[in-house]
Amino acid sequence: MSTYKTVRVDLGVRSYDILIGAGLLDQSGQICVPLIDGGKVAIITDDIVGPLYLDVVQSSLENQGIHCHPITLPAGESTKNFTQLQAVLDELLTAGFERSDTLIALGGGVIGDLTGFAASILKRGCKFIQIPTTLLAQVDSSVGGKTAINAPQGKNLIGAFYQPQLVLADISALSTLPERQIKAGYAEVVKYGLLGNLGFFEWLERYGQDVLALDDAAISHAVAVSCQMKADIVADDERERGQRALLNLGHSFGHAFEALAQYKPDLLHGEAVSAGMAMAFEYSTARGLCTTQDASRVKAHFTALGLTGWDDLPNRVTDHQDKLLPAMMQDKKNERGEITLILARAIGDAFVSKGEDAEFLNNFLLGYDPENT
Ligand code: NAD
Ligand code: GLY
Repeated sequence: MSTYKTVRVDLGVRSYDILIGAGLLDQSGQICVPLIDGGKVAIITDDIVGPLYLDVVQSSLENQGIHCHPITLPAGESTKNFTQLQAVLDELLTAGFERSDTLIALGGGVIGDLTGFAASILKRGCKFIQIPTTLLAQVDSSVGGKTAINAPQGKNLIGAFYQPQLVLADISALSTLPERQIKAGYAEVVKYGLLGNLGFFEWLERYGQDVLALDDAAISHAVAVSCQMKADIVADDERERGQRALLNLGHSFGHAFEALAQYKPDLLHGEAVSAGMAMAFEYSTARGLCTTQDASRVKAHFTALGLTGWDDLPNRVTDHQDKLLPAMMQDKKNERGEITLILARAIGDAFVSKGEDAEFLNNFLLGYDPENT
């Protein structure tokens, strides 16, 4: 077996390991066989990841005597819908899947979120393993048990908290990921430094280019630190009653950008989040919470690594600053019309701020000009 790092998500009977290393897809059969425990397996993937990695995972499982039932869905965010969910459930029920059987999600966050939700409702819950193949999925969506599909009313509105039994993050699989997707995933990596780990942010200032270049040591360290931070937060607050909301740093702004951009592929989630995190730091400065030096340092890092900022957002966003507040009012963190934002006192010191003043926020959004903040 090749070496890998292990991060434990400590949730009592729902605890599980995240394994991070190169070449794990080849070993997926040996690693998963005890969890599968003689049951059936469905590998759910998409039509980009399937041709790249389905064979290696399927062969590895079949070498352990496990029969696999592959299901391939169209790649892309629009797959996270009722029609695709129903098609998956229909196929699993027809094939006689039971609670003791296992669904394996092989792909990015779209496949992970849909497969996890299918696992949560198939016969009231069957087993579920995540094999994330995007950087975003390895550091964020595969960990912590948020599963969902989208509704016409918005993203991730229908779902469940449902933890996997195992996450296998094979960093070698990232080699086929387009550069734009790597940068979008990197936004979620840098989020962990910004929200609670100045030392990790400083490490990223030094080695971020190596992470983006997928240097083995740099990427496995970045994935492991990110997963450890997420595991710790989720272990304390699985259902997002408090501190888990910190993982939404940049997302209240970012989700508004995504909504105005109509969730089209010219703005990826991670791109919206990087522009949103820069804005969250500038807003924290405007609120007198954080120094301008810290906001500028965040922006400088994003610029150095070519991450998405306000100026890179589609015109559907930047030409409609008046529509940002209404879009932000839809955020799931808001309660009884009160705006909740994740703000920062400094790099590595984010906090949940409830009851933000809508007029102050709107004035900030209307006057937002990254050159003058
Ligand atoms: P994605 O699943 O759409 O993957 C991005 C693209 O990369 C797809 O076209 C996919 O086919 C392709 N791809 C995946 N792996 C590849 C590889 N190794 N090589 C080449 N191409 C590859 O998107 P994503 O960015 O992974 O995830 C975004 C989704 O995750 C959104 O739906 C978002 O809502 C969700 N999300 C969920 C959570 C959570 O906690 N559950 C957190 C963050 C994001
Ligand atoms: N991606 C945010 C969370 O899992 O809570």
